[in-house]
Amino acid sequence: MDRIRLVGGNPLHGDITISGAKNAALPLMIASLLSDEPLVLTNVPRLADVKQLERILENHGVDIAVHGRRRGESDDGGQRMTFHAADIVDTTAPYDLVSKMRASFWVIGPLLARCHEARVSLPGGCAIGTRPVDLFLFGLKELGAEIDIDDGYVVAKAPKGGLIGARIVFPKVSVGATHTLLMAATLAKGTTVIENAAQEPEITNVAECLVAMGAKISGIGTRTLTIEGVEKLHGANVEVIPDRIETGTFAMAAAMTGGDVFLRGARADHLQSALDILAKTGVDLTTEAGGIRVTRNGNGIQPVDVETHPFPGFPTDLQAQFMALMTMSQGTSHVRETIFENRYMHVAELARFGADIAVDGQLATIRGKSQLKGAQVMATDLRASVSLVIAGLAAKGETIVNRIYHLDRGFERLEDKLSRCGAEIERLAG
Ligand code: EPZ
Repeated sequence: MDRIRLVGGNPLHGDITISGAKNAALPLMIASLLSDEPLVLTNVPRLADVKQLERILENHGVDIAVHGRRRGESDDGGQRMTFHAADIVDTTAPYDLVSKMRASFWVIGPLLARCHEARVSLPGGCAIGTRPVDLFLFGLKELGAEIDIDDGYVVAKAPKGGLIGARIVFPKVSVGATHTLLMAATLAKGTTVIENAAQEPEITNVAECLVAMGAKISGIGTRTLTIEGVEKLHGANVEVIPDRIETGTFAMAAAMTGGDVFLRGARADHLQSALDILAKTGVDLTTEAGGIRVTRNGNGIQPVDVETHPFPGFPTDLQAQFMALMTMSQGTSHVRETIFENRYMHVAELARFGADIAVDGQLATIRGKSQLKGAQVMATDLRASVSLVIAGLAAKGETIVNRIYHLDRGFERLEDKLSRCGAEIERLAG
């Protein structure tokens, strides 16, 4: 298995181009199942999760093409890809494919809407919590689906003639359940209202894609989505939004090491809560044309308390990275994780750098002023892994991050982007 070796201590200076958002690209790719016409996506990041979802979609019969660079496009831009689901040949998403990535469960929505049946393996547990699918099943049942669990699979059937529009009031906000029900409702008969919908920018990207495909959706970007079902969706051309979690991660890296980094393509409106928190820690953030500049010139990091919440709150996907930053602050800070019950796997690894963090249930207390020291650490999930990389950038001496396949799932050319800004970082082939 590949590892990352880095030597901390260099401030970051330079430009980092933000890639397309993994968590928008995945549901956008899944949306291609809703139409027999091609969906063209641009700015698709080159990530292991994208590759894995390609395998799943190909198994359903989707033809996928990657196109070359166009005149005027930069060489570090994302991929232009076509997804053409002319004929869905298989409505089963098998265990060996779905178990590798939870988002692949979301195919259940479009398959049920278009083919009136779906058999999708339950995704199973995951390192950050139990992550059940009850909200998906509740929503699909509200649209008239009959659901059985058989041999580890969710077997879903639409009523004769297809899904029927309904009012779905989610008891809890879920990104995945919102994506899935939104996609399912586009082809249902009549009107669907989704209340307590997730409002993440990735949901908006998908909703706007569905509208470009001919769906009728109002309330985009709000807690209530209203969908008038249509007979058929057509092809469209849609751009994946910039990755706000990658943006936040590099902003925190620059905060930790000091320096001056321009995050090209980053959108402040997609991560305002995290930027506000970073500003309170003493980092200078300026929104410029085409991106965000992050600077810290020698001043200390102030301790700030944070609670994770659904958008527009502070994202759980930046919690580990923020905790790494707080280990360097001038005092004591607290982090409360409210989305996932087990998302503190990075705490034990950060301790290997000399960090002082105590966890009590969902509350972590971070005593700052640590001069982190390089260490051998192990990545456990995607965001935890990158928190170890940024801690290593600020630590004294050499750090080896083991098991980095998690990083490849969600960060495009991480070592390359950081080394171009002066970090001493390299991949060691396993
Ligand atoms: C999405 O996961 C993201 N994944 C996650 O990013 C992100 O952490 C999460 O949203 C929260 O923002 C993608 O977009 C591919 P949820 P998702 O359903 O949709 C509970 C990363 O690192 N829940 O909003 O799976 C659930 O257990 C990943 O890129 C139920 O109880 O998250 C959790 O406590 C990790 N029943 C809460 O809701 C359900 O049926 C929010 O989860 C569904 C969810």
